[in-house]
Amino acid sequence: MKLNPQQKSITNSTRRGLRFFDNQPVAQDILTEVIAGLSRPQKVLPAKYFYDEQGSKLFEAITKLPEYYPTRIEINLLRQHREAIAKLLKEDVWLLEYGSGASLKIRLLLQAIKPNCYVPMDISKDFLLASAESLMEDYPWLNVYAACVDYSQPIRLPADMITSAQKLGFFPGSSIGNFSPQEAQVFLQGVRNTLGKDGAMLIGIDLQKDKQVLEAAYNDCQNVTAAFNFNILHHINRVLGTQFNVDYFEHKAIYSEEKSRIEMHLVSTMDQIVRISDSNTADGESKNITFKTGESIHTENSYKYSKKGFTDLVEGAGFEVRECWSDDKDYFAMFYLHCC
Ligand code: AVI
Repeated sequence: MKLNPQQKSITNSTRRGLRFFDNQPVAQDILTEVIAGLSRPQKVLPAKYFYDEQGSKLFEAITKLPEYYPTRIEINLLRQHREAIAKLLKEDVWLLEYGSGASLKIRLLLQAIKPNCYVPMDISKDFLLASAESLMEDYPWLNVYAACVDYSQPIRLPADMITSAQKLGFFPGSSIGNFSPQEAQVFLQGVRNTLGKDGAMLIGIDLQKDKQVLEAAYNDCQNVTAAFNFNILHHINRVLGTQFNVDYFEHKAIYSEEKSRIEMHLVSTMDQIVRISDSNTADGESKNITFKTGESIHTENSYKYSKKGFTDLVEGAGFEVRECWSDDKDYFAMFYLHCC
């Protein structure tokens, strides 16, 4: 990822002592990625572009839907096991959250773990800063070092974040399922390097289960998931100045038992052409993208694992499983990993 020259990689800012590391992706990266994805035989858009401010809000709304069970179960697991988690850690801990969003789940852990520093990492800058500030208000003793990064890419943290404290990575919500298993392993190897010797990781996993339960969770009655899916086009329109009309697409989410994943698509309801170019630059890349009726943009995968399958994956990335907690239906699991 390129660094935006206008946005320094480290800003020792801001209001009320919040430290902030800014490495937000720039529009040129987005344009190149969008054109490349939409030029493939099966059109794709990277799921990370769901998450502008509106997308982050829609995702928060999804987590409260009756059909979307992962958040409720994970919150219960965190409540039940947070004291046990705290006992597994040393005194001096830095808590790094990958994809921190509204920084809500972390509130369940802060009192038990009492970290020296909390490092929320998220791609959605305004949401990240607002969440970090509200957290500092509610926990005045907490040092917060917010990092606006694309955590799916290798992260070079600033030197002052590299301390001798034990690091606990927190990756809740089964967000690891939005990577392919191969990408997940590469990502976890990178996390393993960031956490270093003595590092630990707390990670939420959505387990394999009945197709009906899974498909209901991604096709809710209130159409919030559909709005979240459409928001990827609104986001791209806003950043690149493109003119996708969401009324010409339909939301689709299906579970592939063969691949153990929910697939989300936006299906074109008509033949159409959308011009993609960066409205901010006169002579940049541009391309016409043609859609046939029924042709889709694949916007997201959400992989579901067995406990054994996930254990094999993390062992291949340099972790060992120390604990695995799950609910009584085995819908969702929380793994506590240690760096080998
Ligand atoms: C963030 N991620 C784990 C969610 C999931 O379930 O894959 C994103 C999501 N997409 C649709 N609903 C929720």
